[in-house]
Amino acid sequence: MISRREFVVGFSAGLSGAGAIWPLLSRAADESVAIPGKEGMVVRSHRFFDLEMPVEYANSFVTPVEHFFVRNHMHEPSTLDGAEWRLSLSGEVEKPLGLTLTELRKMEQHSVINTLECAGNGRAFAVPHVPGVQWQKGAIGTARFSGPRLKDVLERAGVKANGKHVMFRGLDEVPGKVPAFVRSIPIEKAMDGDTLAALNMNGAPLTKHHGFPARALVPGWIGAASCKWLTEIKVLDKEFEGNFMSPGYRMPNHPVKPGEAVDVADTHPATALNVKSLIASPGDSSTVKSRAVHIQGVAWAGEADIEKVEVPFDSGASWQAAQLGKDQSHYAWRLWSHSWKAPQAGDYTIMSRATDSAGRVQPDSVQWNPSGYLINVVDRVRIHVQA
Ligand code: MTE
Repeated sequence: MISRREFVVGFSAGLSGAGAIWPLLSRAADESVAIPGKEGMVVRSHRFFDLEMPVEYANSFVTPVEHFFVRNHMHEPSTLDGAEWRLSLSGEVEKPLGLTLTELRKMEQHSVINTLECAGNGRAFAVPHVPGVQWQKGAIGTARFSGPRLKDVLERAGVKANGKHVMFRGLDEVPGKVPAFVRSIPIEKAMDGDTLAALNMNGAPLTKHHGFPARALVPGWIGAASCKWLTEIKVLDKEFEGNFMSPGYRMPNHPVKPGEAVDVADTHPATALNVKSLIASPGDSSTVKSRAVHIQGVAWAGEADIEKVEVPFDSGASWQAAQLGKDQSHYAWRLWSHSWKAPQAGDYTIMSRATDSAGRVQPDSVQWNPSGYLINVVDRVRIHVQA
């Protein structure tokens, strides 16, 4: 029998560190409260709703809204009246204006199936610990977002030649003196035909948790780019300067060691997502009743496409390609599955490793950074196989 330790060490020495912290991260330690419409989600924060999807829900191409993670930096707006709501457009535009929800619904509607992932998904696996919401694997979901293209909305106001960045402001209720959640994206991404002023999610109006009545949808990018409860769009001649652009949501230009000072001038904004995969089943610490183990999960790559997902075989000496699901859409995850026969009963660690069309491959160990962003280490779960 191959013990778990041998199996892990057998094909990646870099894994032992990550493996060592896993027992501390069991879901039982998290609170679970009944939030209407979000039953079964893992509550990472009550103060501002931060709800994580249990990994076993990563089993469908489109995630039902009930299972879609929620990330709020502040309080959700207490009142939202679609009839009163306006979306203002200002800044470097020819004609500042305000649009109603009815006007936005009358514009050509476009749909994008997008995998949205919080930049901090996986932060709990950073060693040493980094502050922030301790997301494990489920700050991720895929939905069909629909609404007018952002470029059509911007063209109503007419972007001036010096308009280089597009700023979004939401209606969040800002507690105390903390800075409002305001960020910007470059004009090229704002004008991309798949960037939306989204009004619908999975065919129904956005729910309050997901940004009713409108949110930006910046496909393939970290979730923070997709501002919820959108109320103001301002075209700027430079990147927006504010806490959530800098120092927030920035990546060091070079690898940094824990404790090392990082000069903000040597960082860049986090934008597109990494290549990554997730094992949805069997679940971590589960017992599988037969040696024939059906492994399934999802894999995504931001603005790139998934090329392959591999799982180890032959005691980890080599990797074998999993079968990719037939559902495909440029910014959406791919389902994958693999049938594996355990050589004998015992404890095993199973893994998944994705490669994308840009040639990126998931690393064997956590790529530590001071904010715990874009962590995309090879996924692994421990199982016990019965005879
Ligand atoms: N928009 C506003 N106005 N306020 C927020 O706190 N959180 C952002 C983004 N948009 C946020 C926001 C972050 S960090 C993420 S990951 C996504 O919303 C999460 O979207 P969801 O809650 O619909 O899953």
